Amino acid sequence: MNDKLWDNVDHYLESSLLPPDEVLGEASRASTEAGLPAIAVSPLQGELLHILVRLMGAKRVLEVGTLGGYSAICMARALPPGGSLVTLEVDARHAAVARANLERAGLAGVVDVRVGPALESLPRVAEEFGEGSFDLSFIDADKTNNPAYFAWALRLTRAGGAIVVDNVVRDGMVADDDSADASVLGVRRLMEAMGGEPGVRSTAIQTVGVKGYDGFAIALVGAGPAPR
Ligand SMILES: C[S@@+](CC[C@H](N)C(=O)[O-])C[C@H]1O[C@@H](n2cnc3c(N)ncnc32)[C@H](O)[C@@H]1O
Repeated sequence: MNDKLWDNVDHYLESSLLPPDEVLGEASRASTEAGLPAIAVSPLQGELLHILVRLMGAKRVLEVGTLGGYSAICMARALPPGGSLVTLEVDARHAAVARANLERAGLAGVVDVRVGPALESLPRVAEEFGEGSFDLSFIDADKTNNPAYFAWALRLTRAGGAIVVDNVVRDGMVADDDSADASVLGVRRLMEAMGGEPGVRSTAIQTVGVKGYDGFAIALVGAGPAPR
């Protein structure tokens, strides 16, 4: 197994399963041209987020980490009429690219991009929308703050809703007990929080593909702990 094989398989699956998507293609191109890092979810991962939103019948989605709005477009397109997505981004330049991409996608009225450190925006979101007012929360920002983002997501996501956290495997480094890497430590503290949280069921899945070797975690809120 190697990265090239994972890339080939991802390209095969993408070309087999996903129709050409001008809007997402243009969002990727505009993000690259604006110099944004290539760290958005892959097309196949974006489609998984889209399917999750639809499976859940989600009407309100929270995202932490907007970048150029790729995942926001994938999820916002899955919302019913009247649905909305709030996405938090610290970098004003990223947010500007995202807003332009969302405008081109016809989603400017659906997605609310808020600029600032997420830990400053989240209390305002809680005040404005109220606790338990989101159906799905997607955490995909700086990994060091993952435990704090998860704590906020727990407050903001309704019982029966879900919290998805991206990049929890980090080339396998997550299993390194001796790691001093700040992002790895953030993910490990997240795993402790998810595993120790009564009232949620959580799992994490390792992934390979065009994004390398990584994985995502998902928690079902208000579901009671998994039996041990
Ligand atoms: C992995 S990218 C998000 C990718 C996006 N979800 C997608 O798939 O299209 C992470 C984003 O989080 C942002 N970010 C980093 N630290 C942040 C913070 N403290 N508050 C809000 N956003 C932050 C970064 O600027 C970056 O744009």
